[in-house]
Amino acid sequence: MKILITAGPTREALDPMRFISNRSSGKMGYALAEAAVAAGHETVLVSGPCSLTPPEGLAKVVQVISAADMAEAVKAEFPSCDAAVMCAAVADYRPKNYSSSKIKKNDGEMVIELERTEDILASLGSMKKPGQLLIGFAAETDDMEENALGKLQRKNLDWIAANRLDLPGQGAESNTNTVVLYSVNGDRIVIPLASKKQVAEAILKNTGVNK
Ligand code: CTP
Repeated sequence: MKILITAGPTREALDPMRFISNRSSGKMGYALAEAAVAAGHETVLVSGPCSLTPPEGLAKVVQVISAADMAEAVKAEFPSCDAAVMCAAVADYRPKNYSSSKIKKNDGEMVIELERTEDILASLGSMKKPGQLLIGFAAETDDMEENALGKLQRKNLDWIAANRLDLPGQGAESNTNTVVLYSVNGDRIVIPLASKKQVAEAILKNTGVNK
Protein backbone atom coordinates (compact mmCIF):
# COMPACT_ATOMS: atom_id res chain seq x y z
CA MET A 1 0.00 0.00 0.00
CA LYS A 2 1.00 3.63 -0.38
CA ILE A 3 0.93 5.34 3.02
CA LEU A 4 1.14 9.03 3.89
CA ILE A 5 2.40 9.94 7.35
CA THR A 6 2.74 13.40 8.88
CA ALA A 7 4.95 14.16 11.85
CA GLY A 8 6.31 16.90 14.06
CA PRO A 9 5.13 20.41 14.87
CA THR A 10 4.51 23.31 12.53
CA ARG A 11 5.99 26.79 12.99
CA GLU A 12 3.94 29.90 12.39
CA ALA A 13 6.21 32.89 11.82
CA LEU A 14 5.78 36.31 13.42
CA ASP A 15 8.92 37.89 11.98
CA PRO A 16 12.23 36.57 10.53
CA MET A 17 13.34 35.48 14.02
CA ARG A 18 10.22 34.39 15.88
CA PHE A 19 7.50 31.81 15.55
CA ILE A 20 4.67 30.11 17.43
CA SER A 21 5.00 26.34 17.71
CA ASN A 22 4.44 23.45 20.13
CA ARG A 23 6.33 20.68 21.92
CA SER A 24 5.87 17.90 19.35
CA SER A 25 9.19 16.06 18.93
CA GLY A 26 8.16 14.12 15.80
CA LYS A 27 9.03 10.82 17.53
CA MET A 28 5.59 9.19 17.16
CA GLY A 29 5.26 10.14 13.48
CA TYR A 30 8.81 9.02 12.63
CA ALA A 31 8.16 5.72 14.44
CA LEU A 32 5.00 5.28 12.33
CA ALA A 33 6.99 5.99 9.16
CA GLU A 34 9.64 3.44 10.22
CA ALA A 35 6.97 0.83 10.97
CA ALA A 36 5.26 1.46 7.62
CA VAL A 37 8.57 1.04 5.73
CA ALA A 38 9.36 -2.12 7.72
CA ALA A 39 5.97 -3.55 6.68
CA GLY A 40 6.90 -3.00 3.03
CA HIS A 41 4.65 0.01 2.31
CA GLU A 42 5.54 2.75 -0.15
CA THR A 43 5.77 5.45 2.52
CA VAL A 44 5.66 9.23 2.15
CA LEU A 45 6.64 11.29 5.20
CA VAL A 46 5.61 14.94 5.45
CA SER A 47 7.48 16.39 8.39
CA GLY A 48 7.44 19.67 10.26
CA PRO A 49 10.71 20.97 11.73
CA CYS A 50 12.26 18.50 14.19
CA SER A 51 15.69 17.13 15.01
CA LEU A 52 15.09 13.53 13.86
CA THR A 53 16.62 11.81 10.85
CA PRO A 54 13.99 10.27 8.54
CA PRO A 55 14.11 6.46 8.49
CA GLU A 56 15.81 4.68 5.58
CA GLY A 57 13.65 3.29 2.82
CA LEU A 58 11.03 6.04 2.51
CA ALA A 59 9.62 6.62 -0.97
CA LYS A 60 9.61 10.37 -0.31
CA VAL A 61 10.26 12.91 2.45
CA VAL A 62 8.76 16.40 2.27
CA GLN A 63 10.12 18.83 4.87
CA VAL A 64 7.73 21.69 5.64
CA ILE A 65 7.64 24.56 8.11
CA SER A 66 4.13 26.01 8.49
CA ALA A 67 0.61 24.59 8.62
CA ALA A 68 -0.01 26.13 5.19
CA ASP A 69 3.07 24.34 3.75
CA MET A 70 1.94 21.08 5.34
CA ALA A 71 -1.59 21.46 3.97
CA GLU A 72 -0.24 21.96 0.44
CA ALA A 73 2.11 18.94 0.62
CA VAL A 74 -0.42 16.61 2.23
CA LYS A 75 -3.28 17.48 -0.13
CA ALA A 76 -0.99 16.89 -3.12
CA GLU A 77 0.00 13.41 -1.86
CA PHE A 78 -3.28 12.11 -0.42
CA PRO A 79 -5.18 11.36 -3.66
CA SER A 80 -2.60 8.71 -4.67
CA CYS A 81 -2.40 7.10 -1.20
CA ASP A 82 -4.29 4.13 0.24
CA ALA A 83 -4.00 5.39 3.81
CA ALA A 84 -2.94 8.50 5.71
CA VAL A 85 -1.93 8.84 9.34
CA MET A 86 -1.97 12.48 10.50
CA CYS A 87 0.33 12.44 13.51
CA ALA A 88 1.65 16.02 13.10
CA ALA A 89 0.82 18.58 15.77
CA VAL A 90 -0.42 21.22 13.35
CA ALA A 91 -0.81 24.74 14.77
CA ASP A 92 -4.49 25.69 14.95
CA TYR A 93 -3.66 29.42 14.75
CA ARG A 94 -1.04 31.57 13.05
CA PRO A 95 -0.15 35.25 13.48
CA LYS A 96 -2.52 37.30 11.36
CA ASN A 97 0.27 39.58 10.18
CA TYR A 98 3.84 38.61 9.35
CA SER A 99 6.42 41.35 9.81
CA SER A 100 9.33 41.10 7.38
CA SER A 101 11.28 43.43 9.69
CA LYS A 102 12.19 42.24 13.17
CA ILE A 103 9.52 43.39 15.63
CA LYS A 104 11.05 45.85 18.13
CA LYS A 105 10.06 45.97 21.76
CA ASN A 106 8.18 48.86 23.33
CA ASP A 107 7.24 49.66 26.89
CA GLY A 108 4.00 48.01 27.96
CA GLU A 109 2.10 45.02 26.68
CA MET A 110 1.97 43.54 23.23
CA VAL A 111 -1.00 41.80 21.66
CA ILE A 112 -0.56 39.32 18.81
CA GLU A 113 -3.60 38.72 16.65
CA LEU A 114 -4.02 35.13 15.50
CA GLU A 115 -6.11 33.59 12.74
CA ARG A 116 -7.14 29.99 12.15
CA THR A 117 -5.05 27.68 10.01
CA GLU A 118 -6.62 25.06 7.78
CA ASP A 119 -7.66 21.86 9.55
CA ILE A 120 -5.68 19.56 7.25
CA LEU A 121 -7.16 16.36 8.61
CA ALA A 122 -10.70 17.67 8.10
CA SER A 123 -9.75 18.60 4.51
CA LEU A 124 -8.51 15.04 3.94
CA GLY A 125 -11.75 13.76 5.47
CA SER A 126 -13.76 15.65 2.87
CA MET A 127 -11.45 14.54 0.02
CA LYS A 128 -11.48 10.86 1.09
CA LYS A 129 -12.56 8.34 -1.55
CA PRO A 130 -14.04 4.87 -0.85
CA GLY A 131 -11.22 2.48 0.05
CA GLN A 132 -8.94 5.18 1.48
CA LEU A 133 -8.18 4.82 5.19
CA LEU A 134 -7.83 8.00 7.26
CA ILE A 135 -6.34 7.95 10.75
CA GLY A 136 -6.00 10.96 13.04
CA PHE A 137 -4.58 11.68 16.46
CA ALA A 138 -6.13 13.43 19.44
CA ALA A 139 -3.85 14.64 22.20
CA GLU A 140 -5.97 15.67 25.14
CA THR A 141 -5.70 16.79 28.75
CA ASP A 142 -9.44 16.49 29.53
CA ASP A 143 -12.37 14.31 28.45
CA MET A 144 -10.15 12.26 26.12
CA GLU A 145 -12.77 9.80 24.88
CA GLU A 146 -15.49 12.40 24.25
CA ASN A 147 -13.07 14.74 22.44
CA ALA A 148 -11.55 11.93 20.36
CA LEU A 149 -14.95 10.59 19.29
CA GLY A 150 -16.03 14.12 18.35
CA LYS A 151 -12.96 14.53 16.11
CA LEU A 152 -13.48 11.06 14.58
CA GLN A 153 -16.99 12.07 13.45
CA ARG A 154 -16.33 15.73 12.57
CA LYS A 155 -13.27 15.00 10.44
CA ASN A 156 -14.75 11.89 8.73
CA LEU A 157 -12.00 9.56 10.01
CA ASP A 158 -11.85 5.78 10.06
CA TRP A 159 -9.77 5.67 13.23
CA ILE A 160 -8.44 8.07 15.83
CA ALA A 161 -5.54 7.40 18.20
CA ALA A 162 -6.10 9.28 21.45
CA ASN A 163 -3.57 9.94 24.13
CA ARG A 164 -3.36 11.97 27.32
CA LEU A 165 -0.94 14.89 27.49
CA ASP A 166 -1.05 15.23 31.25
CA LEU A 167 0.22 11.81 32.31
CA PRO A 168 3.87 10.68 32.53
CA GLY A 169 5.29 8.37 29.86
CA GLN A 170 3.10 9.52 26.99
CA GLY A 171 2.71 12.37 24.57
CA ALA A 172 4.83 15.01 22.92
CA GLU A 173 8.46 14.61 23.99
CA SER A 174 8.37 11.14 25.52
CA ASN A 175 10.03 8.01 24.07
CA THR A 176 7.05 5.95 25.15
CA ASN A 177 3.33 6.26 24.57
CA THR A 178 0.00 4.64 25.25
CA VAL A 179 -3.02 5.29 23.05
CA VAL A 180 -6.62 4.26 22.75
CA LEU A 181 -7.78 3.58 19.20
CA TYR A 182 -11.40 4.36 18.37
CA SER A 183 -12.95 3.38 15.05
CA VAL A 184 -15.97 4.74 13.25
CA ASN A 185 -17.45 1.24 13.63
CA GLY A 186 -17.32 1.46 17.41
CA ASP A 187 -14.10 -0.44 18.12
CA ARG A 188 -12.13 0.68 21.20
CA ILE A 189 -8.64 -0.80 21.44
CA VAL A 190 -6.17 0.06 24.20
CA ILE A 191 -2.50 0.03 23.19
CA PRO A 192 -0.64 -0.25 26.50
CA LEU A 193 2.43 1.80 27.46
CA ALA A 194 5.38 0.79 25.27
CA SER A 195 8.10 2.38 23.13
CA LYS A 196 6.79 4.63 20.36
CA LYS A 197 8.15 2.03 17.89
CA GLN A 198 6.01 -0.71 19.43
CA VAL A 199 3.00 1.60 19.67
CA ALA A 200 3.46 2.57 16.00
CA GLU A 201 3.46 -1.11 14.97
CA ALA A 202 0.33 -1.72 17.06
CA ILE A 203 -1.47 1.27 15.52
CA LEU A 204 -0.71 0.12 11.95
CA LYS A 205 -1.73 -3.47 12.74
CA ASN A 206 -4.97 -2.68 14.58
CA THR A 207 -6.19 -0.10 12.05
CA GLY A 208 -5.66 -2.55 9.17
CA VAL A 209 -2.79 -0.63 7.51
CA ASN A 210 -0.53 -3.61 8.25
CA LYS A 211 -1.91 -7.06 7.60
N1 CTP B 1 -4.90 18.58 12.65
C1 CTP B 1 -4.77 19.02 11.33
N2 CTP B 1 -4.77 20.37 11.05
C2 CTP B 1 -4.91 21.27 12.04
C3 CTP B 1 -5.05 20.84 13.38
C4 CTP B 1 -5.03 19.49 13.65
O1 CTP B 1 -4.67 18.20 10.43
N3 CTP B 1 -4.89 22.57 11.74
C5 CTP B 1 -4.93 17.13 12.92
C6 CTP B 1 -3.79 16.59 13.75
O2 CTP B 1 -2.74 16.12 12.93
C7 CTP B 1 -4.43 15.45 14.50
C8 CTP B 1 -5.88 15.88 14.66
O3 CTP B 1 -6.10 16.88 13.66
O4 CTP B 1 -4.42 14.25 13.73
C9 CTP B 1 -6.26 16.38 16.01
O5 CTP B 1 -5.74 17.61 16.23
P1 CTP B 1 -6.23 18.55 17.43
O6 CTP B 1 -5.54 19.86 17.32
O7 CTP B 1 -6.09 17.80 18.69
O8 CTP B 1 -7.77 18.69 17.09
P2 CTP B 1 -8.66 19.91 16.89
O9 CTP B 1 -9.70 19.52 15.92
O10 CTP B 1 -7.85 21.12 16.58
O11 CTP B 1 -9.44 20.06 18.25
P3 CTP B 1 -9.19 20.95 19.56
O12 CTP B 1 -8.43 22.17 19.16
O13 CTP B 1 -10.57 21.18 19.98
O14 CTP B 1 -8.44 20.05 20.48
